[in-house]
Amino acid sequence: MLAGKRILLIIGGGIAAYKALELIRRYQDAGATVTPVLTGAAEQFVTPLSVAALAGQKAYRDLFDLTDEAEMGHIQLSRAADLVVVAPATADLMAKMAAGLANDLASTLLMATDKAVLIAPAMNVRMWQHPATQRNLATLRSDGVQVVGPNDGAMACGEFGPGRMAEPVEIVTATVAAFGPKPLTGKRVLVTSGPTHEPIDPVRYIANRSSGAQGTAIARALVDLGADVTFVTGPASVAPPEGVRLVRVETARAMLEAVIAAGTVDAAVFAAAVADWRVATEPDQKIKKTPDGALPELRFVENPDILATVSQRTSGRPKLVIGFAAETQNVLENATAKRLRKGCDWIVANDVSAATGIMGGVDNAVTLITADGTEDWPRMAKTAVAARLAQRISEALS
Ligand code: CTP
Repeated sequence: MLAGKRILLIIGGGIAAYKALELIRRYQDAGATVTPVLTGAAEQFVTPLSVAALAGQKAYRDLFDLTDEAEMGHIQLSRAADLVVVAPATADLMAKMAAGLANDLASTLLMATDKAVLIAPAMNVRMWQHPATQRNLATLRSDGVQVVGPNDGAMACGEFGPGRMAEPVEIVTATVAAFGPKPLTGKRVLVTSGPTHEPIDPVRYIANRSSGAQGTAIARALVDLGADVTFVTGPASVAPPEGVRLVRVETARAMLEAVIAAGTVDAAVFAAAVADWRVATEPDQKIKKTPDGALPELRFVENPDILATVSQRTSGRPKLVIGFAAETQNVLENATAKRLRKGCDWIVANDVSAATGIMGGVDNAVTLITADGTEDWPRMAKTAVAARLAQRISEALS
């Protein structure tokens, strides 16, 4: 994905600096070479030795290092790369960039470069929300700096909210996107997301705990890779992504109609938690309590299976159909059987038992099941699962 690309990676001084080590690995896996630069503060979090060892080359640190100047001056260093990436971009580093300061190697390189710059901010939630940081962010964006993250989540400082650095896999996706042309340009992808609401009467409904976070993140990651995304969502609690063809539905039947109306697509990702059943007859009026205390009885009928319907299409089937398996027990066994039963190509399986905190939470731990076998992905942010899945989709469609 990044074969032959040279990345100048500036590592800022924040707790997220440890993730820069994984980022270097991921860049190398994608075919890029990384020239690392550490700020003075970054050295408090990761050692130049470990960074250099992973990158396979010198970790640059000091503006006034004469050996460096003899080997490669800071101007040349800033230009030799194809892209400059700042991860983590601390509040201080962002402020320096926005103000145009150049009092150390990192800030000087950022001033001197003639290449595109991508930053992955990481800081305490209050620092991120501070008007000064938001002002600096706006300035940087208008200067053409690209930004990935930050994510919402629990932070090392014990607070919760936006400020956590994007996961390395998301930074790699953003890097691929920064180089363009985007690998999914011209591809049409359908994503279903969120819960469905199945009416009991005009005021009541049956729902489930899906927030729509995973489906939303997948749609966003696909858009980032250039896909033309139709996003069919039930009543989710997270806001839909930007840049999609948005179709809002309530029920499973409406979701199926919207999926069919979306027409032919290259890939379809069914992340929605569709209600398996609906109430057989929906009365026009609200069901009232009766004086004799008789309890209402609900009779259910099965909803159409959207994933199975699309997977088993004889004409116009997407090249790649991906289902989700939300299980609370025997996850692998159930999900493997589900892939065959539904007829989809891949299943993304996860354990949604209450104890995992996955449903409605920020993180996800999934297993990807394909015809070739199973792959356990480590627990990571839903946005990171999305970025990784989007990368896999782009490889499968290329
Ligand atoms: N799905 C769907 N339409 C339905 C039910 C499920 O498209 N009516 C899709 C979901 O979006 C998901 C996959 O099917 O991608 C698996 O959903 P899940 O609820 O886990 O499977 P079920 O078919 O309900 O199987 P089980 O009841 O055995 O768990």
